[in-house]
Amino acid sequence: MTIRAATPADAESVAALSCQLGYPSLPQTMRQRLARIQCDKNRVVYVAELAGGGVVGWIEVFAYELLVAEWRAEIESLIVDEGYRGAGIGRRLIGRAEAWARGRGCKTVYLRSNIIRERAHAFYKNLGYEAIKTQLAFEKRL
Ligand SMILES: CC(C)(COP(=O)(O)OP(=O)(O)OC[C@H]1O[C@@H](n2cnc3c(N)ncnc32)[C@H](O)[C@@H]1OP(=O)(O)O)[C@@H](O)C(=O)NCCC(=O)NCCS
Repeated sequence: MTIRAATPADAESVAALSCQLGYPSLPQTMRQRLARIQCDKNRVVYVAELAGGGVVGWIEVFAYELLVAEWRAEIESLIVDEGYRGAGIGRRLIGRAEAWARGRGCKTVYLRSNIIRERAHAFYKNLGYEAIKTQLAFEKRL
């Protein structure tokens, strides 16, 4: 299995996995987003590809600086195909994202995870991530 940067050609499998994550997206929309991300040095999507072809997981990570925080990376989304979980693919995707973050000069990796994703929380803790606070998420349609 290979971990490599995603390209717009991965749109269909990335979109299918996005549905498993609970965010249905059209391949065409995904193609455009992947193309924009490819041009942005502060964002990257890595995919896990089986030796015989076929994308079975992806991770999106970005780097940013805030007035109140030094440069840090944030893992925005992570998904491994339900037929391939427990085989170390999530660990490898996280490792690749962390290596990218180090290369961008980030000192920490941040991530948010819905309170209902208890299995993912155990996975992150196992990889050294510490729960630092509980928040409410607010949204307003414009
Ligand atoms: C969370 C997720 C990405 C983990 O990917 P995965 O490929 O199944 O995980 P891995 O096989 O790489 O597991 C890595 C380590 O975490 C451990 N782990 C994985 N799931 C775990 C769980 N539910 N509870 C405890 N430990 C867990 C594994 O045992 C392994 O430890 P080891 O290497 O010491 O044996 C995957 O389950 C998934 O896609 N879940 C649904 C989507 C999701 O919740 N995404 C996160 C959104 S915030």
